[in-house]
Amino acid sequence: MSTLREKHVLVGVTGGIAAYKIAYLVRQLIKEGAQVRVMMTEAATHFVTPLTFAALSKHPVYTDLWNIETSEERDITIRHVKLAHWADIVVIAPASANTIAKLTHGIADNILTVVTLATPRPVLLAPAMDVDMYINEATQQNLSRLKERGFYIFDPPAGELASGLHGKGRLPEVEALVEKIHDILERTPLDFIKKNIVITAGPTYEPIDPVRFIGNRSSGKMGYALATAASHRGARVTLVSGPTQLQTPRGVNRINVETAQEMLNTVLKHLRTANVLIMAAAVADFTPSTVAKEKIKKTALTQSLQLTLVPTPDILTEVAKKKKKVITVGFALETTNELTHAREKLQKKNLDMIVLNSYNDSNPVFGSDINTVTIINRWGEIEELPTLPKIEVAHKILDKVKSFMENR
Ligand SMILES: Cc1cc2nc3c(=O)[nH]c(=O)nc-3n(C[C@H](O)[C@H](O)[C@H](O)COP(=O)(O)O)c2cc1C
Repeated sequence: MSTLREKHVLVGVTGGIAAYKIAYLVRQLIKEGAQVRVMMTEAATHFVTPLTFAALSKHPVYTDLWNIETSEERDITIRHVKLAHWADIVVIAPASANTIAKLTHGIADNILTVVTLATPRPVLLAPAMDVDMYINEATQQNLSRLKERGFYIFDPPAGELASGLHGKGRLPEVEALVEKIHDILERTPLDFIKKNIVITAGPTYEPIDPVRFIGNRSSGKMGYALATAASHRGARVTLVSGPTQLQTPRGVNRINVETAQEMLNTVLKHLRTANVLIMAAAVADFTPSTVAKEKIKKTALTQSLQLTLVPTPDILTEVAKKKKKVITVGFALETTNELTHAREKLQKKNLDMIVLNSYNDSNPVFGSDINTVTIINRWGEIEELPTLPKIEVAHKILDKVKSFMENR
């Protein structure tokens, strides 16, 4: 049976020359059993009339933010909120440069942008535009920020464009779009609904003086991918984040911390209501024993500077002491005897699962968008995953957590 059967697909059409192709997309989605609603920007209606989509989807098309709907029970409903929660997935195709820019900056001035900002469900964008608009730094920066926030972006294929130019910026073929929608829906079942997941991410900074600190190279990308994936699967996510440059994933409650001690305090505060704790942060093992009140100065006489480091509190050990029913997942990065050390950590810290990052030249881990990991659970089961994008690794980890929850 098609993954699309009975799924609610909300299609958003913006003002691009490829808008006519979305008629075929809507037809195909309906053929595969999906329920489809269409919303359009005002610019989109210059390219295709709402009537076309209304006839194909057999439902009125949403073009106006200002209409209030009356339900059968005569309740007044706010259309954009209803639509945002009706959808299992929102697909914006073609996604114009203008709408991409609006979404990046949270501008909500039409039905399409308001609904997209309000939906907790996955959003797929299919950018389609002239090559120069697509490669423009503004568009590229906007797309990468949206990607960090958990939007799915369909990398536009290259080819001949409506302008006559050649390059990237075409709308993908309808079959490719449908396949992507299948993949996303399959990847994001609502299997963590009503579950509270606490995720730690990024490095910690341990202060030396008011301007210096000891940190590490963690980018936070793995933890943020986990937060995105869990949120798409219906979880209430608290992301306890060390300093990173990353955008907060949509729908995620992010709490910023700096030091290992702050991370511990915040995790313990949220542990009481958590069903799952995933510790993806690279927490410092040592911190300066004292923090200088003033900036440490280099003088003509300075030959060397001694710093005394003391161990930081071990978050997983502290959590293990308080452990009730929360499922705990740790991460390990080892450079020698990886599996042995990871298994030791799993036992010593009383974890349910440990994710071992394989650290080598072909898998730099830090800052990369891909990762190669091995997942080991407390029953000794091991699964070595191939190299995958971090978002895929995140979903695999959640799959394991889910089956652990069901089988323990
Ligand atoms: C003939 C024509 C074709 C256009 N094609 C595209 C396109 O393919 N992609 C795009 O991003 N903008 C395109 N534009 C520009 C958008 O329509 C314009 O930026 C508009 O403000 C988009 O509004 P919207 O994002 O609210 O739909 C085109 C404009 C015209 C006049």
